[in-house]
Amino acid sequence: MQITTYPFPQAITEKHFYGKTAIVVDVLRATTSIVEALKNGATQVITARDPAEAMAFYSHFGKKDSVLAGERGGLRIADFELGNSPLEFSEKVVKDKTVVICTTNGTQAIHACRGASRLLIGAMRNRAAVAKEALKQGEDITIICAGTLGECSLDDVIASGGILNAIIKQLEVSPELNDFSSICLSLYSSWRKGEIEMSGITHYKKLFELGFIEDLSFCFELDKTDVVPKYSNGSIKG
Ligand code: MLT
Repeated sequence: MQITTYPFPQAITEKHFYGKTAIVVDVLRATTSIVEALKNGATQVITARDPAEAMAFYSHFGKKDSVLAGERGGLRIADFELGNSPLEFSEKVVKDKTVVICTTNGTQAIHACRGASRLLIGAMRNRAAVAKEALKQGEDITIICAGTLGECSLDDVIASGGILNAIIKQLEVSPELNDFSSICLSLYSSWRKGEIEMSGITHYKKLFELGFIEDLSFCFELDKTDVVPKYSNGSIKG
């Protein structure tokens, strides 16, 4: 089995995930928020590429049955009900509703990978569960970090390493890894040993400065849920 990890979706085209199981990771915070929304009873999550598309989806599903969420620069988009803090996607807010979400990098990464054989949404909180699900079909696996506007983001690298670590633990034969997968694994191991200064990570620092302090610890908690969001025909369900 081959497992290939990429630092951002701009590094790949359809050939990189065609016929494979893909996992998109935007640990801070889009994929964590999607996991949380489905864990708390949302019927589905619809990702939009920009605020106008999100508004159009929201009008389609209607105010009664849907919730409009998203961020720009880490902050809630004007006139949207929710931002992109996973803590906002509580049962009270999302249960039995369609969540329409638009974020700067995470929802773009999901859109870029929609041609994969299977597309799963990964985070630290569903790490072991997404690893188990990824192995179900026995296909090669592509992990795509959302990154930040075409640049590598260390938070996603650590989280992808965590998912890789959980996948490898479940395999009897070592998989073939690309070099970036090995980098992710190594940085995850350093993170586990407390060797990474999190406040030095650009997006971590930005969210800290914006006051999303609780989000930072929440997003980096390991294996808190078995919910594995799966994308199919424009909709993500748990
Ligand atoms: C994104 O998609 O760029 C992020 O999830 C940003 C954020 O932390 O809200």
